[in-house]
Amino acid sequence: MKGANFYITTPIYYPSGEPHMGHAYSSIIADVFARFKRNDNCKVFFLTGTDEHGLKIQNAAEKAGLDPLIYCDKISKVFRELTKKLNLSNDDFIRTTEKRHYDSVNNLWNKLIKSGDIYLSKYKGWYSVSDEAYYNSDEIAEKNGKKISTFSGSSVEWVEEDSFFFKLSAWEKKLLEFYEKNDKFILPSSRRNEVIKFVKSGLKDLSVSRTSFTWGIMVPNNNKHVIYVWLDALTNYLSALNYPNVNDKLYKDFWPASLHVIGKDILRFHAIYWPAFLLAADIPPPKRVFGHGWILSGDEKMSKSKGNILNPLEIINTYGIDQLRYYLIKEVSHGSDGNISLKNLESCINSDLANNYGNLCQRVFSFIKNNCESKVNKTKNITDSDKKLLNQTEAFTKDLRSEMNNQNLNNYIKSVINISSLTNKYINDEEPWKLKKNNIKKMNNILHIALEQIAKISILFNPIIPNATSKVLDALNIEPELRNLSFLDGSNIFTNEIKIKELDILFKKIT
Ligand code: MSP
Repeated sequence: MKGANFYITTPIYYPSGEPHMGHAYSSIIADVFARFKRNDNCKVFFLTGTDEHGLKIQNAAEKAGLDPLIYCDKISKVFRELTKKLNLSNDDFIRTTEKRHYDSVNNLWNKLIKSGDIYLSKYKGWYSVSDEAYYNSDEIAEKNGKKISTFSGSSVEWVEEDSFFFKLSAWEKKLLEFYEKNDKFILPSSRRNEVIKFVKSGLKDLSVSRTSFTWGIMVPNNNKHVIYVWLDALTNYLSALNYPNVNDKLYKDFWPASLHVIGKDILRFHAIYWPAFLLAADIPPPKRVFGHGWILSGDEKMSKSKGNILNPLEIINTYGIDQLRYYLIKEVSHGSDGNISLKNLESCINSDLANNYGNLCQRVFSFIKNNCESKVNKTKNITDSDKKLLNQTEAFTKDLRSEMNNQNLNNYIKSVINISSLTNKYINDEEPWKLKKNNIKKMNNILHIALEQIAKISILFNPIIPNATSKVLDALNIEPELRNLSFLDGSNIFTNEIKIKELDILFKKIT
């Protein structure tokens, strides 16, 4: 059965320094949803990229002694390489310095001018360059003699300049109606409540241009104003679908976006400003914004400015990418912050990957290779213990689609690892090695069921640990086009004899 089209995005990254674990986390969870949807027969478009304009990037380029575009070319490449290292399955990588993006931003701007939602005035207030965000006076505090935002902790400066404004205040009521009608537009619900509270407290018009620097997209027909970097950046989600060409196949197939995966620090931009811009321009808003929590290091957000970074590339080199992907998904619970450490990473690799799923595959494959000439026949005698395992498996799989559709990756991973534990237990209890001499038929049956379980677990784990599961599915001789989730609707993966290939060790135990 063909599923619906699914357009998923990561935030586009500021190329202002080395990629860190927070970037890796946003990307990996988005990739898991994209892969899951593809495996569930949906047509998927998965986008990532770099957000290259604004004062923050201009400052970083100056510090590096480079022209901003040359600087961005260099660092954007680092992020593009990161997508490979993280094994992301993105269909496109957009840069906001590309022509297709300029066309799209210019068009959106003109539409907002035409609709009367943008006017010229003067901005007086607080601005944080590191967040590229404006803050109200009641969001400012003083720390060590410096003004900071109470929302992000970043330092802010007082800005007074001519500016175009977007009439955000006019959209307050319509946004609240939109949240009401689309009760899963923002997930998890704690974030939705936060946004609704903020909107209800009153929205001020938003400054959408700057005049004190030049690195950005100029306001059309104006040589003084640079478009505010968030209005520019958010539009990337449209540019990648060839907007403003609304008759383009990509745009028709994939807009409105199904899911923007973002960190909670950039929720306001995605859940308030973005739908307001789109509604004002008469473009349908996205269907879902999922705001994940932060990766913490000793209770603080992991970030360059705090100097508490665990480098994802070093971890991948030492432990492997599947290991990092699995650990981040398991450790950080749904929408909450998660404290990560090497010690926990190692114990997660050992307990779930090496001793549980890895061991299950290894023991079944090597037993079949050594005792059954690498093939098992299907027999029809289903025993009570077989039935018990199959029923328990069904109980764990029945909600998996909805867990994914609600971005609840923790519940998903827990259910699948439970199926793996149950299958290991089934083999321990059934002891197929004792049946070698006098009950080959029963032994075959047990092994057939074990391989069916391994295939299911591998397909279910495939979005999270694509490398290891692909090795297993290859060794099971399952064609790529058959590695899908139709078994969740009750069918079996194998209907006949199964021939297997050799399987190398999947996960080395960390000692
Ligand atoms: N450029 C903007 C996004 C524009 S989208 C139209 C941006 N870039 S970023 O590079 O600073 O952050 C990218 C993503 O990484 C954000 O979703 C952010 O929340 C996430 N993380 C950055 N540090 C993080 C942690 N320590 N933990 C988890 N994710 C955090 O924001």
